[in-house]
Amino acid sequence: MIKKVGIIGFGQMGSGIGQVAAGKGYEVIAREVTDDLFKKGIGYITKNLDKAIEKGKTDAAHKADVLAHIKGTTSFKDLADCDIICEAVIENLDAKKQVYKELDGICKPETIFASNTSSLSISDMAAATKRPAKFCGLHFFNPVPIMKLCEVVKTIDTSEDTYKTAFGFAQSLDKVCVTAKDSPGFIVNVLLIPYLLDAIRQLERGLASREDIDNGMVYGCGHPMGPLALTDFIGLDTTLYIADIMFEEFKDSHYSAPPLLRRMVNAGYMGKKSGRGFYDYGKK
Ligand code: CAA
Repeated sequence: MIKKVGIIGFGQMGSGIGQVAAGKGYEVIAREVTDDLFKKGIGYITKNLDKAIEKGKTDAAHKADVLAHIKGTTSFKDLADCDIICEAVIENLDAKKQVYKELDGICKPETIFASNTSSLSISDMAAATKRPAKFCGLHFFNPVPIMKLCEVVKTIDTSEDTYKTAFGFAQSLDKVCVTAKDSPGFIVNVLLIPYLLDAIRQLERGLASREDIDNGMVYGCGHPMGPLALTDFIGLDTTLYIADIMFEEFKDSHYSAPPLLRRMVNAGYMGKKSGRGFYDYGKK
């Protein structure tokens, strides 16, 4: 039975998970490195809820209730009695292992650890702990309050009980859950990332303009945004990072990043978050 949810990393993804969990009445405690980073996450949530109030989709009482369910901390110790931990720290295996090693010594033995990684090995993270049976992946999509999907990832060690509890938790957040094995990219990114890379290759080859490539998929296939706009939204650095992990694992040219993507990332074009990517969003 899950009552208390710990969030590690309260950025775009972590705060989104915190928002939906708090909105369903869970007690949420979020750990960030500094108070300011926690406040930044609360800022994202407040902005989302204010927009929803403006549109008449929710009210001030709901906003106050969501915010009242979320506490912040800079100490892992405050997460000791959480029933599930959703981790959304930087996509770096060593950083994640370090977090889990520390949490493993602090959290009660029943606590489930769930990583929001999009491409790193859940089994490698679980191996840093003494609770691999209590480990799984819960991969939410950005923006978390809007995207309906959650990939529930099982390793060879994930117990049936852990899987069912984590699956039920994600369903209780109104997510449509799909189950995937612990393999780079799970279900969605194995399909999505090569598509984004191919769109960048089209641009690189001069096949069409960025607008026409994007309009092709928006108006020809009914996607909410075209692949270049979506790469900007995800982050060029994140897209490159996931592609590199999948290429390293599968050694398949489907996943090899086009030189244009790497050059843009090296030049600081990270997409929407940096103010420029395939499109210009104004200076950040
Ligand atoms: N956070 C929360 N809510 C947001 C938001 C954000 N960052 N951006 C937009 N929204 C909400 C809006 O408030 C609005 O809500 P209502 O319908 O309740 O009014 C709704 O989303 C639609 O927003 P807009 O009307 O402003 O704009 P839009 O119609 O262009 O939609 C979008 C924006 C939801 C981002 C839409 O373009 C979309 O679905 N894009 C595709 C997003 C996507 O593919 N995400 C997955 C990325 S891959 C990933 O996350 C996994 C990985 O590992 C890489």
